[in-house]
Amino acid sequence: MIILDKVIEVRKEIKTASKNAKTIGLVPTMGFLHDGHLSLIKRAREENDLVVVSIFVNPTQFGPGEDLESYPRNLERDSSLAESAGADIIFAPSVEEIYPNGYNTYVEVEGEMTKKLCGASRPGHFKGVATVVSKLFNIIAPDRAYFGQKDAQQVAVIEQIVRDLNFDIEIVSCPIVREKDGLAMSSRNIYLNEDERKDAVILSQSLFEAEKMIKNGERDPLKLKEFIIKNINTKPNVEIDYVEIVNSKTLEDVKEIKGDVLIALAVKIGRARLIDNICMEVQ
Ligand code: PAJ
Repeated sequence: MIILDKVIEVRKEIKTASKNAKTIGLVPTMGFLHDGHLSLIKRAREENDLVVVSIFVNPTQFGPGEDLESYPRNLERDSSLAESAGADIIFAPSVEEIYPNGYNTYVEVEGEMTKKLCGASRPGHFKGVATVVSKLFNIIAPDRAYFGQKDAQQVAVIEQIVRDLNFDIEIVSCPIVREKDGLAMSSRNIYLNEDERKDAVILSQSLFEAEKMIKNGERDPLKLKEFIIKNINTKPNVEIDYVEIVNSKTLEDVKEIKGDVLIALAVKIGRARLIDNICMEVQ
């Protein structure tokens, strides 16, 4: 495995490698890798000849007052984890490499999709994500790119970009990897103290309960939402940002639980802003 930090180097390496490699898989990350990230890398390994993992804490997707400075970083640890999961190339550029002096071009998905859920509380976030992911697509030119269902809205936004900008890339959405007690793995879980970590289980627990209610016939999104909010509010230190029930493909609100349903939520616990969701296909 090799670690590169310059666009020109990674392009050269991919050009050489692609003489033998028929397909290239890209796994974009912000590093501080956990089993969720590694599941994406392993899947890319199974499905491609060359696996590129990008590690870049992208400043343009962080808002003012967010955790850009404190976001955990550890390239050495990440490199050995990525290698053991099957990465061939790590692309870990500096901020100046991606956004050099005079940088002035951004990709923005318009419409409701980026304005609701995380887009409502993090204005500009998806513009940063869309821009950096488009740049990575142009730099690496992968056949497939792997993203986690953990960031369901991000997957929907990226699928929209691929359609709209004619990227010839297959987007592979991978299931959420969870801790034993159900908490969705996240680089940000490191911000939680012992008590907050215990409280954080309420997120997945509420979602799983809602899933059970749907399986038992509940079809009213308002009732489900009400239940989740009430359940989370039993933990006084967990502050709800949003709980939304939408169509998982279009992210449009649903009036009835039917078809592709996404129940997504975001909360603040101490210093951490955590998201989680479940996706269901309901007859
Ligand atoms: P990051 O939060 O590091 O996540 C990188 C990828 O790992 C994303 O596709 C995310 O959905 C996936 N992932 C994170 N936790 C997961 C879990 N518990 N189970 C499965 N997959 C999980 O998402 C980003 O970085 C950035 O926005 C990025 C796309 C790299 C653009 O900067």
